[in-house]
Amino acid sequence: MSLTQYRALGRSGLVVSPMCLGTMTFGPGDWGADEAASRAVFDAYRDAGGNFVDTADIYSGGASEVFVGKFIKQSQSRDQIVLATKFGFNGSRNPLAATQGTAGNPHAGGAGSKNIHRALDASLARLGTDYIDLYWMHIWDGVTPAEEIVQTLGDLVRAGKIRHYAFSDMPAWFATKAATIAAERRVPGPIAMQLEYSLVARDVEAEHIPSARDAGMGVMPWSPLAGGFLTGKYRREDTAATGRLSGANPFGDSKFTARNWDILATVKDIAAEHDRTPAQIALAWVMAQRGVASTLIGARTVSQLTGNIAAADIRLTADQITRLDQGSAPAGGFTAGLASPMIRRMIYGGHDVAGWSD
Ligand SMILES: NC(=O)c1ccc[n+]([C@@H]2O[C@H](COP(=O)([O-])OP(=O)(O)OC[C@H]3O[C@@H](n4cnc5c(N)ncnc54)[C@H](OP(=O)(O)O)[C@@H]3O)[C@@H](O)[C@H]2O)c1
Repeated sequence: MSLTQYRALGRSGLVVSPMCLGTMTFGPGDWGADEAASRAVFDAYRDAGGNFVDTADIYSGGASEVFVGKFIKQSQSRDQIVLATKFGFNGSRNPLAATQGTAGNPHAGGAGSKNIHRALDASLARLGTDYIDLYWMHIWDGVTPAEEIVQTLGDLVRAGKIRHYAFSDMPAWFATKAATIAAERRVPGPIAMQLEYSLVARDVEAEHIPSARDAGMGVMPWSPLAGGFLTGKYRREDTAATGRLSGANPFGDSKFTARNWDILATVKDIAAEHDRTPAQIALAWVMAQRGVASTLIGARTVSQLTGNIAAADIRLTADQITRLDQGSAPAGGFTAGLASPMIRRMIYGGHDVAGWSD
């Protein structure tokens, strides 16, 4: 597989590379890249044939969008690139200010119509373009009705300001509800889900992946290397390697758990069998999962990026996939139990009946 083996994202005509360039690292910050380093990463991704770039209004306080817009303009590639950005998180105040008593503007976050219009206009200005190819709801706000979100984003598609929209970090039921409302009303619906998905984060397999497949939404895993953990550069006995996870982890709980170290050990064994890096094996695994349309790759440097892109041509054997699957299997849970082969056989008189979206 190469980055030019394009595929449709979900049930849409949006044609994307199997790896999407994540740009959360573009811009200042503890684990970010300055403008020159970010440009080099962007150029290397384009040189490899990649056509899909993902940013967000919140990344580096808007600097990521500014960089991406500049690089697209300088490379005159706007017509070739699928440009994705996101709205939802509130940029009007430092989240750390919660303990300092300073209040932000509630209309500068969430998925209400008022904020979506504000956020989109600000993103278009920073990106220096007049349309977004794929506009993401970055996070479910738990407040705005699905009807309002479908109406607002569908109207923006019809107005030509965005070509498609999609959801990140939301309950599966919410995505299904929005997709159903859109289908019943014959209006544009969501075409993809962006979810944390890796060998050490497989919770989304129970509800989200089946929901995405049923509704024709392509799955895009984020943090496929668990923020760098699955590269193997941190060691169980010494986690002090320089990298994103050596400081405060912005994604909450530590990746350094006994279970995750065991998963990494299997990844390392299989990397040795292929004479490849653990990062490449972890990426090859997630790219091979059902429902996955395009995987977000994060890189701070060109060598990280090119190393990760090289994962696209790895074919894991059935035995290797089984070892990786078994060692990293998520705790069953209620829904996973319902979908088990044993239950299906109990229902269909001992037959392994396949559903259309299995
Ligand atoms: N929707 C969401 O809520 C959400 C959340 C997170 C991310 N995302 C998207 O997903 C993209 C990817 O996420 P991510 O950056 O967390 O992905 P990731 O692949 O899990 O982590 C990337 C980080 O791992 C390290 N790394 C990557 N390749 C390496 C290699 N070959 N060797 C050593 N270290 C390596 C680098 O950090 P260091 O060198 O600093 O250690 C790099 O910044 C983001 O850019 C963003 O577009 C979306």
